[in-house]
Amino acid sequence: MVGGGLGAFVGAIHRHAAALDGQIELVAGALSSTSERARESGAALGLEPARTHARWQDLLDDELRRPADERIDFVTVVTPNDLHFDVAHAFAQAGIHVVCDKPLVHDSGQASQLREAVLRSGVLFAVTYNYSGYPMVRQAREMVKAGAIGTVRKVVVEYHQGWLATKIEADRNKQASWRTDPARSGLAGALGDIGSHAENLVHSVTGLEIEQICADLDAVVAGRALDDDGSVLLRYQGGARGALLATQVATGYENDIRLRVSGTLGSLEWRQEDPNILHHLPLDAPRQMLTRHSPWLHPHAIAASRLPPGHPEGFLEAFANIYLGVAQDLRARRDGVALTPGQGDYPTLEDGARGVRFIERAVLSARSREKWTAF
Ligand SMILES: NC(=O)c1ccc[n+]([C@@H]2O[C@H](COP(=O)([O-])OP(=O)(O)OC[C@H]3O[C@@H](n4cnc5c(N)ncnc54)[C@H](O)[C@@H]3O)[C@@H](O)[C@H]2O)c1
Repeated sequence: MVGGGLGAFVGAIHRHAAALDGQIELVAGALSSTSERARESGAALGLEPARTHARWQDLLDDELRRPADERIDFVTVVTPNDLHFDVAHAFAQAGIHVVCDKPLVHDSGQASQLREAVLRSGVLFAVTYNYSGYPMVRQAREMVKAGAIGTVRKVVVEYHQGWLATKIEADRNKQASWRTDPARSGLAGALGDIGSHAENLVHSVTGLEIEQICADLDAVVAGRALDDDGSVLLRYQGGARGALLATQVATGYENDIRLRVSGTLGSLEWRQEDPNILHHLPLDAPRQMLTRHSPWLHPHAIAASRLPPGHPEGFLEAFANIYLGVAQDLRARRDGVALTPGQGDYPTLEDGARGVRFIERAVLSARSREKWTAF
């Protein structure tokens, strides 16, 4: 693991998620930005001192010195965004599989370089768009694929947070500080941080490809260099229309990401703060509430559940489904066997690259006079 030291947010989530199915063990790390903190963080997790490094470059060098059967299988990158490219690129180039958090990198040029490195070395590359791992999101995806709501015509996706409604970065809030800094966060603020999740959620459920984009981005809190609030209109190939809202100044909202997909035969609605339920609104029948792990769901949605219906599952389990897909793919590659349907289900480098393009084009549109911008 690179990043995810003491006091970090998402690194611990990755560790819980990776461990959930007993397939993955953390053995080495460069966990923090300072050597002292990196050492402390490694010790707190029980890593061997010899595999706890002050710099990610030392971690890579050390792994490459080890015989192949003692080497890590993959690296997870959970640093602030500005380090994703250097770390992911170096490990991919060295032939080590990569799991990287979102947004993938800062720009499409970096995404292309990453793609080249991955193609050359043939490594697996996963991007942790974890919302696609929810069982009821996978159910929605399978229903759309099977035509349950007909041809998709309208998509509305929202990600509402309120934690940046005041200038908490001025109080040195660790997570807020880098997210509001263009050098570290990238071209966008809220749009990159959570709008990228929303974009991926739509794509993973509907498969729709964006054709044109029209964005309005604003820094609501005075003195911010990056957007903390964004509204985006989307036109998809094939004619569907979409609206995407990503805001971090919606006071009182926590992690309210929700999706509505409407087709010619009905609609689907899912909300992460009530993630065990998928609403199906058929054109000509009463609304149905589908519950997680019930026997009439698609096998891929059932396979993404661990607990019987009624016992709540949530964020960690959805995240774990991404890691389970990665573990299945790694085993299949190692054993030279094909993945069975439903296995190896995780967002890829292409999903990450599309997310980067989404951010770039939205920012371009927001800055332009014409607004509607080709994707
Ligand atoms: N998928 C999700 O739901 C989700 C949620 C939160 C964050 N994220 C993403 O995860 C990444 C981390 O976000 P966070 O909120 O955990 O940030 P954070 O600030 O809490 O943690 C970042 C960690 O990276 C470490 N770090 C910084 N520079 C380093 C270096 N040179 N070498 C090694 N470690 C270094 C920091 O010391 C810290 O431990 C971001 O890219 C963010 O967009 C994804």
